[in-house]
Amino acid sequence: MLRDPRVICLDRVDSTNTYLRRLAEDGAAEGTVVIADGQTAGRGRMGRGFLSAPGAGIYMSALMRPRCAPEDAARLTAWTAVAVRRALLESCGLAVGIKWVNDMVLGGKKLGGILTELCLDSAGGIGFVVVGIGINVGGGRFPEELKGVATSLLEQTGRRFSRCRIASCLIRELDAVRRDWPGGEAEYLREYRDNCVTLGRRVSFVTGGAESTGTAESIDGAFALTVRRDDGSAATLSSGEVSARGLYGYM
Ligand code: BTN
Repeated sequence: MLRDPRVICLDRVDSTNTYLRRLAEDGAAEGTVVIADGQTAGRGRMGRGFLSAPGAGIYMSALMRPRCAPEDAARLTAWTAVAVRRALLESCGLAVGIKWVNDMVLGGKKLGGILTELCLDSAGGIGFVVVGIGINVGGGRFPEELKGVATSLLEQTGRRFSRCRIASCLIRELDAVRRDWPGGEAEYLREYRDNCVTLGRRVSFVTGGAESTGTAESIDGAFALTVRRDDGSAATLSSGEVSARGLYGYM
């Protein structure tokens, strides 16, 4: 069997994103992937943690060195959500939803998420981007506070899916992202919009220190979420800066 030297498989690590970041700083090639059986300090967006029990999920990070302005790289999170959706469709036959901006959803609960981290070079351009993906495959236990929010492929379907198969489909789809970036955006945008479960829902969000509520209306050409506030005004939430959360529970 041929082994790709750019795919690094670990038993235990603090965070695959942190590990890959160190490799990237030492000059690792674009396309390098780190996968771990379990993480001891898995990280999510907004400083949250990501539960990463051994053997129970996909914990993967991929290195990209896109040629674009740093502000454009935030869209890679949305592109990756489309890639994860495609990979789960191919590997498990499951059509998962995307909760704006970075959550994968199944059965109305969080199946996984994406953490994109950007490192600038000394000239202020993109040094590299680490895209981290976590998917709850099943076998672990969620703590009480996550039970209403998080789910796994096993919990939703009663089936044990092969993590190897999911991971290999994911790597293929991430290669496609790097190949398609940025010219192929129209197709990623179309798939994102078609499968975004946030649209039409009541959401709350914070901009400029003030909390607002409204209804999510559309995704613009930069994957920003347009929300109609209850007072009739519109807000555009950029994927890089703001998160919207459902008013009534996780969704
Ligand atoms: C989120 O839900 O906010 C994002 C979760 C991202 C988790 C993945 S698991 C692999 C990679 N390593 C990390 O520490 N985080 C990401």
